[in-house]
Amino acid sequence: MGTRIGVGLLGLGTVGGGVASILLNPQERHPLVKDLELVKVAVRDLKRPRPVALPDAMLTTDPAAVVNDPAVDVLVEVIGGIEPARSLILQAIDAGKSVVTANKAVIARHGTEIAAAAKAAGVYVLIEAAVGGGIPIIEPLKQSLGANRIDRVSGIINGTTNYILTRMAEEGAAYEAVLADAQRLGYAEADPAADVDGLDAADKIAILSTLAFGGPIDRSAIPTTGISALQGSDVDYARQLGYGVKLLAVAERLGKEGHDPLPLSLRVQPTLVPKDHPLAGVNGVNNAILVEGEPIGRVMFYGPGAGAGPTASAVVADILNIAGIRQASDSAGSVDPLLAADSWRSCVLDESGAIRQRHYVRFNTLDAPGVIGKVGGCFGECGVSIQSIVQFNASEAGAEIVVITHEVTERQVSDALQAITDLPEVSGLAAHLGCL
Ligand code: HSE
Repeated sequence: MGTRIGVGLLGLGTVGGGVASILLNPQERHPLVKDLELVKVAVRDLKRPRPVALPDAMLTTDPAAVVNDPAVDVLVEVIGGIEPARSLILQAIDAGKSVVTANKAVIARHGTEIAAAAKAAGVYVLIEAAVGGGIPIIEPLKQSLGANRIDRVSGIINGTTNYILTRMAEEGAAYEAVLADAQRLGYAEADPAADVDGLDAADKIAILSTLAFGGPIDRSAIPTTGISALQGSDVDYARQLGYGVKLLAVAERLGKEGHDPLPLSLRVQPTLVPKDHPLAGVNGVNNAILVEGEPIGRVMFYGPGAGAGPTASAVVADILNIAGIRQASDSAGSVDPLLAADSWRSCVLDESGAIRQRHYVRFNTLDAPGVIGKVGGCFGECGVSIQSIVQFNASEAGAEIVVITHEVTERQVSDALQAITDLPEVSGLAAHLGCL
């Protein structure tokens, strides 16, 4: 057990509920999660049903009471919007507390002010959840890719619009009809403007650009076009020409080196993406960010761009980073438990053959009556259900029988293969591959 870290939460909506749920259920996660203690939570209405059960004494309607609680070491801001979020973040920094926020609107507009205040106070403001939901992209840009000259960051960073565009492409449906459906399913807000007009994506690309290129840009100057005027016919024509249409956010450098200020181009716009481009297969509410740099080349980050679980995953990772740094500095000579990657329990490889997966197998056989039946019979006797069975290359010399099974255990498959290769009509097992 290391130093306990008190966590204060501003907001107990979708993301706040997800964060509380992780903190209250630390089992099977990194042992540092057990050192995070949720101490105070600000909600708008004490009577509203909550996504997680918390003791009444932990709740308040006064956000300042969370910020100023001496037991709160790290403030988590997930209320969104510009004010009072900005002021509360600055108050926490003034009180010497590190902050974790998912608030892209506030960081895109006031990130410079907040970062300067944090630096002066000697605390951290971490923002992994602000872009790409559960996708790690902020920390890679700040740390893992730090050796590179970044040339371009582009991506699909709004799940709502990607869901709408995916359905328009797949069903030939009109924008208005899909938007209404997305609102009914809870993917789009009742007021969808921030998403469909590209403003949310512009906030996010402003943040990514600042990290990738090392300097802030004027958020309000990013040319931004959303998808609300997009015609279904253009999505269809693009498809016929071999392209998908995606709402892309792009930040790229125009000067290679030595420019001060560094010229950049940023934009958010519906964009034709060739079908074989890595971003073309990113569908539904998923997000993906493609980073291009020297010397790494291209690296893509893909995953769920929103939602309680994914966003809370990013928020708690940030709290853990602060906890790790704090534990390392609190006890002289100790190292950050996250960077150290110490083992924290023993694991063992299972050799029981109980793992289940699909299998692809190919047999060389005689081309004779009843062979497929006998092969199928052996699988059936071992409890292996066949998804497909096909015969190839039948000739006097023999035939190849290819089988794809449903999900079964290793033991079932190896028993069946033993029985099949013992059949006089089967001359051998020519291939055995896994199948996802
Ligand atoms: N509204 C955002 C989206 C999720 O649709 O991607 C939060 O950033």
